[in-house]
Amino acid sequence: MEKTELLYEGKAKKIWKTSDTNLLISEFKDDLTAFNGGLKSSEEGKGALNNKISTELFKLLNEKGVQTHFVEMLDDNHMLHKACEVILIEVIVRNIATGSLSKNLGIEHGTVLPFTLVEFDYKNDALGDPKLNDQHCLILNLVKNEDELYEIRRMARKINDILKPYFFEKGLKLVDFKLEFGRDKNGAIILIDEISPDNCRFWDIESGESLDKDRFRQGKGGLKVAYENVLNRILG
Ligand code: TYD
Repeated sequence: MEKTELLYEGKAKKIWKTSDTNLLISEFKDDLTAFNGGLKSSEEGKGALNNKISTELFKLLNEKGVQTHFVEMLDDNHMLHKACEVILIEVIVRNIATGSLSKNLGIEHGTVLPFTLVEFDYKNDALGDPKLNDQHCLILNLVKNEDELYEIRRMARKINDILKPYFFEKGLKLVDFKLEFGRDKNGAIILIDEISPDNCRFWDIESGESLDKDRFRQGKGGLKVAYENVLNRILG
């Protein structure tokens, strides 16, 4: 399958049309951004690592009965996936408090949460991705009804129930992550976008070291080595 026309360019990916209207190609870029585009950089090979990591995790989730947009990895930087209607909600799943949760609510960094927290942010850069509650989602028509909200939460928790023990076995704590969902041509809610160290936090169980984009956010360096480490644990 070949890419034809550029449909959309985001911060970390370009999305291309194909000759099949039901299929799109994501091109994973090496660009890095944080703080809503306030911090920018690039790391050669980062896009390929995220494509490979996402491919493995989408395959795992598909095997466990989670519907995703994934079709196949085409080459180092390209993934073929289903075209769907994007739901403009960033679904944040948290097991351990850090980042904006610690900052906004004063929950000490590193606190294990009593249960998995699922939050919604409005995927809207111009508004700075504000927090949403269920009523906001309905008023903004981001979802069609409460059943869709229920399904998104159910899927987010199921994905966490699969990935948290999977990474724990590989010596990593899955601290938190961001998911995106869409509707396929039958209207079913499916997982889209990517699952990679760009949108997950992984802490090494032994050392506590971050193996994710926090290295970039905090100016620590060693980002590529950290992402390679995550991929090797997944493959190993
Ligand atoms: P969060 O603590 O809300 O934000 P910040 O990165 O500003 O501290 O992030 C929770 C998790 O969700 C973290 O793994 C990063 C991921 N995330 C994204 O990938 N994109 C986003 O736009 C946001 C807000 C979070």
